[in-house]
Amino acid sequence: MEISRRKFLGVGAAAAASLTLDRTARADVLSGSAPGASQLAARPVGGASANGIRGVARAYDMITRQNADTLDAIIAGVNIQELDPDDQSVGLGGLPNEEGVVQLDASCMHGPTRRAGAVGALEDIATPSLVAKAVMDYTDHIMLVGAGAKKFALEMGFKEQNLLTEKSRRDWLRWKACLNPADAWLDTRSDSAGPPPTASIPFDDPLHVKFTTGTINMNAVNAGGDLSSVTTTSGLSWKLPGRVGDSPIIGAGQYCDNTVGAAGSTGRGEANIKTCGAFLIVEFMRQGMSPDEACMKTIDRVIAMTERRLLDNRGRPLFDLQFYALAKDGRFGSAAAYQGARFSVADSQGARLIPMPFRFSRADRPQMPEVRCRRA
Ligand code: GLY
Repeated sequence: MEISRRKFLGVGAAAAASLTLDRTARADVLSGSAPGASQLAARPVGGASANGIRGVARAYDMITRQNADTLDAIIAGVNIQELDPDDQSVGLGGLPNEEGVVQLDASCMHGPTRRAGAVGALEDIATPSLVAKAVMDYTDHIMLVGAGAKKFALEMGFKEQNLLTEKSRRDWLRWKACLNPADAWLDTRSDSAGPPPTASIPFDDPLHVKFTTGTINMNAVNAGGDLSSVTTTSGLSWKLPGRVGDSPIIGAGQYCDNTVGAAGSTGRGEANIKTCGAFLIVEFMRQGMSPDEACMKTIDRVIAMTERRLLDNRGRPLFDLQFYALAKDGRFGSAAAYQGARFSVADSQGARLIPMPFRFSRADRPQMPEVRCRRA
């Protein structure tokens, strides 16, 4: 078993400063006292999954230059990917469910006001993070799903649009064609399928179609120590209609407690939901763990809670899962089940991608479940 640990802030004087910061910050978290000047040095900070690198830079900029609220800033950050048709993990262009319909999930929490909002299985609206915030801002509820969520979004003035881009539609058809050699869908790249039809589907993907769980989690803390969190996703590709993962579930896909910190997840939602991962990370930080430690301990808890069919014979999970955390004092951390994931951070040193601590090396990663085309 291999474990990598990223050192907080690096070496030398910066490390010495961080030790001081850690101690005073912990006192701040435990006592709830006003933060001291030394703790302000590391803030503001934004942290996100790797695909949130552009967004976390925007969020940091909004917080520092425009004095924007942390939740407004991180939602503006994730909106970049939600509105990007080339990003197949969230919003417009997200990979669809098994019927070719894009269904989106999102949730958010605002630390200073202790409010939360969420939407699940939302169709035809590209920015579910903003709809989740509207649920938080304009209703007495926390979560709206399906047709009710869409009706609410339209009433709030959100624009209805077809979210299935040409690329995502082709990938979906490719997945269908690979499903079952005995069904009526031909794999037009298979030798046995005969010549492609006139309007052939220009599949440009490799012969394997993987299930993906692309998601963005983003968290931020401002100079005064106020926190917010948001997670948005198109969920598991090719999922059953109506499936919601961890992203819209407060305490699983993201969680924020303004006295402690914020956390969130990407990867297999079904694994995380049973552990309430984001909530657990914040609770571990409340007990005094660093963000890295809290994330890794939660990875271990998820694996311990995973049923046998989703573990290989050495106890390694047959899925990916990543956690991200931010403490009130500005310390950030993360952990992944497998080596190779990266964490987006934006602070006074700029926006950058940081390799994440991991539980298992990439070389040990078992073959993940996938759909294999007949020719493969
Ligand atoms: N973590 C995203 C999902 O499982 O839907």
